[in-house]
Amino acid sequence: MKTNNLWSLIVAGLAGVLIVPSVNAAGDPEAGKMKFYTCEGCHGVPGYTNAYPAYHVPRIGGQHADYIVSALKAYRSGQRKHGSMLGNAANMTDRDLEDIAAYVSRFRSINVNLPVTGNVAVGQGKSESCGACHGEDGNTTDPNFPRLAGQHESYLIKALQDYKSGARKNPIMNGIAEGLSEEDMRDIAAYYASQKKGLTIVED
Ligand code: HEC
Ligand code: HEC
Repeated sequence: MKTNNLWSLIVAGLAGVLIVPSVNAAGDPEAGKMKFYTCEGCHGVPGYTNAYPAYHVPRIGGQHADYIVSALKAYRSGQRKHGSMLGNAANMTDRDLEDIAAYVSRFRSINVNLPVTGNVAVGQGKSESCGACHGEDGNTTDPNFPRLAGQHESYLIKALQDYKSGARKNPIMNGIAEGLSEEDMRDIAAYYASQKKGLTIVED
């Protein structure tokens, strides 16, 4: 079968969303769709909230495949600590993670913004130093860095707090978050969360 035909099949199978083929995804998106079934209860529900502490379950639709794979491996190895995500990733093979990432990363849609608590305009100014990696508006095309645009404000704040406290480990982000106050985090998170184009929930 020609690649073009394969793409039309995939596009037809995911009707209703705009598909942007990703060059770096090694996985099989059709297989990933099946494997994503257990994840939908949290990542497929708009505004679903983690019980404690209270923050929104991250949006992963449209996230870079490479980042999704690296995040899932970090949960699986326990390097990144989260009870339910460890439970979800523990028994997955590398192939499973790549298939899921291939499926999830293909979603693009208009972001449905939730109300934010931080100051968006101030946050834009404070986010200037982040743009080199995450993209000026948080929509970086570099697969090495996660997209932040359209991500939930409460999740972005939680991630930055975890980097600052060291609960989440990454040499680059630990250093960067160290210099941010709670107010900086809220403003920057508000700016990225309110982008019109960005991450979305995964829905069918
Ligand atoms: C019980 C709810 C729940 C289920 C089910 C679940 N997740 Fe998660 N997921 C979360 C929460 C909460 C977080 C944020 C955890 C943290 O703070 O690190 C998360 C984080 C993630 C992240 C990291 C996002 C980022 O931006 O760093 C990825 C990727 C992910 N989940 C994928 C999956 C996949 C794939 C499945 C199914 C195999 C799944 N999740 C099932 C609740 C869930
Ligand atoms: C030199 C590159 C670089 C710069 C500059 C940078 N970041 Fe990051 N950022 C990263 C990388 C790499 C990761 C993924 C780390 C991981 O796997 O935990 C990341 C992850 C994050 C995450 C977690 C995303 C998620 O989905 O869980 C947030 C939030 C974030 N960065 C915010 C910021 C903010 C705010 C700034 C500016 C104040 C910034 N970053 C500057 C490289 C960078």
